[in-house]
Amino acid sequence: MTRQTLYRRHRDTLVEWGENGKLVLVDCGSWRKFSVKPALLDLLSLLDHPRSARDVHGAWASSSRPEEEVRRLLEQLAGAGIVRRAAPGDGGPAPDAPEAGQPAHGDGTGGGPVSGGAPQSTGWTPYELAVHAQASRSPVPAPRRGDPPPARLLHAEALERIPLPEGVAAPSRPLDQVLADRHSIRQYDSSPVPLPLLAAFFARTARVRGYLPPLKYEQTHRAAPSGGARHSLELYLVARDVAGLAAGAYHYDPFGHALERLAPWDEELADLQRRTLCVPMEQDQLPPASLYLTSCAYRTGWKYEGMTLSLIYRDTGCLMQTLSLVGTDIGLATCLTGRVEAPMTPSFLHPYRDRLIHVGNMALGLPAATPAASRLVPVATTGEPQQP
Ligand SMILES: Cc1cc2nc3c(=O)[nH]c(=O)nc-3n(C[C@H](O)[C@H](O)[C@H](O)COP(=O)(O)O)c2cc1C
Repeated sequence: MTRQTLYRRHRDTLVEWGENGKLVLVDCGSWRKFSVKPALLDLLSLLDHPRSARDVHGAWASSSRPEEEVRRLLEQLAGAGIVRRAAPGDGGPAPDAPEAGQPAHGDGTGGGPVSGGAPQSTGWTPYELAVHAQASRSPVPAPRRGDPPPARLLHAEALERIPLPEGVAAPSRPLDQVLADRHSIRQYDSSPVPLPLLAAFFARTARVRGYLPPLKYEQTHRAAPSGGARHSLELYLVARDVAGLAAGAYHYDPFGHALERLAPWDEELADLQRRTLCVPMEQDQLPPASLYLTSCAYRTGWKYEGMTLSLIYRDTGCLMQTLSLVGTDIGLATCLTGRVEAPMTPSFLHPYRDRLIHVGNMALGLPAATPAASRLVPVATTGEPQQP
């Protein structure tokens, strides 16, 4: 019995509006774009699950093409990598399809076969692939329109400005020891975080050390590197229990080394800590303090439109590592969480919802007096976990 070829829409395709309202089909894996007519989208909508040409012919209401023509079209689409071929019931490629993982027609579209069941997961969504592909081809031609956005964000609406102590003599150790000691700590001592320690933490991790010429570009130098020295990241402190600081939400001004008080402590801030820290850390207790990391995205976007998000994520990683290492060095217990909220939720950032995006969090506190026992399993010389 001849097996019928089944076709299914490539899982990585998305539709966008091109110029003059034209529909554009995007293969987010290969970043190839195809101008398409609405009737073709009807066809592709039918291919959520594998179908034969005969089946498609019967179901494609907006077309009167004969079955043979539908088959040819499906083959063309398979050649372009927009649909993939699958054989019924065998869970493997159709006889006329190339080997799994190979391009369908050697055209680099990644249009290999799929099994008859659910689409194979690649660990990516089409959106993620699109952002990554876009980043690899960017920035767009002629970014840098108009004046660069300022490197400094000041909250005119702040309730109070609190200068942080200068030159705090916080402890410090050789870098190799700090690197060896760094680990995530999710339980904290019940005593408050001393403000001078927090001041030293901000000064070492985030304070602006100077401008990088040419001055008109608003580029600054800080402890963590940043793509194009754009430094889009803004730090918000959620202080529940910091000695010498009223509980509430603050913005760290890295130019003036000061905190801008934005909101008093309330149930909303407790909820924010719960959602962004306690839940992902699987802890019941709120941390004494935390950072809500944001990006003033246009600072980076002004220069790097098209790869903005990817640069911001990488900047965030650089800052996260700097925060973690400095925390370890000065005796603060820290744990990062990757939970992000889009759109941002805090009321104290409401006026900035269009300018800032949330990019991560860090819980802060003094380490618990009785730290949780280390569950680290040493690595044997073979590279395997060492047997006890
Ligand atoms: C980007 C990022 C996101 C993270 N998100 C979480 C999280 O949501 N919850 C959590 O408990 N730990 C989180 N962590 C901490 C990791 O779980 C931790 O680094 C990892 O388990 C290794 O442990 P170590 O930091 O002690 O070496 C995150 C770390 C990073 C860098």
